[in-house]
Amino acid sequence: MRTIRAAGGPQAGLIIRESEPVNLESPFDQLDGYLTPNDLFYVRNHFEAPRLDVDSYELKIEGAIRHPFALSMTELRKMPAVARTATLECAGNGRVFLSPHAEGVQWQLGAVSTAEWKGVPLTMLLERADLLQDACEIVLEGADRGTPKQLSMPSGEICYARSIDIEKAKDVLIAYAMNGEDLTIDHGFPVRAVVLGHYGMASVKWLTAIRAVTESFQGYWQTSDYAYWDEVEGSAVRRPLGVAALKSAIARPRMRELIAVGQSYRVFGAAWSGDLAVDRIEVSTDDGATWQPARFLDPQCQFCWRRWEFVWQVPEQKGTCILKSRAWDAGGNVQPEEHDRRFGSYVIHHTVGIEVIVH
Ligand code: MTE
Repeated sequence: MRTIRAAGGPQAGLIIRESEPVNLESPFDQLDGYLTPNDLFYVRNHFEAPRLDVDSYELKIEGAIRHPFALSMTELRKMPAVARTATLECAGNGRVFLSPHAEGVQWQLGAVSTAEWKGVPLTMLLERADLLQDACEIVLEGADRGTPKQLSMPSGEICYARSIDIEKAKDVLIAYAMNGEDLTIDHGFPVRAVVLGHYGMASVKWLTAIRAVTESFQGYWQTSDYAYWDEVEGSAVRRPLGVAALKSAIARPRMRELIAVGQSYRVFGAAWSGDLAVDRIEVSTDDGATWQPARFLDPQCQFCWRRWEFVWQVPEQKGTCILKSRAWDAGGNVQPEEHDRRFGSYVIHHTVGIEVIVH
């Protein structure tokens, strides 16, 4: 059997979901600190990770702009940098909970992680580039290439690319470090985009081009994959996924964990949203029949998760219990109970039951 190794070196504790290309899940049941250590941060690669040479690396800024330019790594590092903490979640996180079974990487709870990202705000590069009036989107292009696996695939090799609306550029970091270290190869070395608040697919790794365009980008990962069917006046309209939905998840107890009767058990998890602030979290220990407030351990921070805890007085009787958590946001929205099928095998943010055995 082939040894499976992530491109950045050995990874401690990541769960292998796919080896070619490398797709690794963070062990969500080990959630502890606010920031996910780099070697436990989930990895989602569509193709083999390209190994870019940092000395010859060039980031092109081109398209519908007055002043096209390119930056070397040294030039990028010399620009004023900012650090932003942000949670990144793959849009397919939780796919294993879908019924009927959905094709794709069978993520459980751990295709979500949080890091402090350091880099240059995209707006700084766009100011220098001087956007043309009619520019409407920014395409972010990666250096990785290949043929997508899904049916209805393009005839030849394509590179990974996504676009964002111009207004979203204010929330984008052109990052070269995570948690105080250079990006690892699997996380996009030497440079990636981090699109705060959007599902992970928008945060293009191994970034080599930033292109302003005057018509909405129709790339494969924008319209075919990572897209969904919206309905407008009775017609189905294809739209790209964007903002990460309101979600919470239970890290502990684990599925089918044995819990002794009568004890106080600390239920622990995290909640996040790419849009409005998460301001309430509740836990049910009776499969959603009743809900009780849980306590946040972290303050509100836009685009970051908040860890939470709930002390559960475990019943004296033996049997099974189904635990659930649900988050509320500042707009009064709550996580749904069912998956919205318009999103296919993405945007899986309904409440998920964790069955435990009280013994
Ligand atoms: N960028 C490139 N160039 N190629 C990719 O396959 N995967 C995307 C995004 N950026 C991807 C990419 C997806 S689907 C996700 S969820 C995030 O990267 C995952 O980032 P991570 O591997 O650093 O966790």
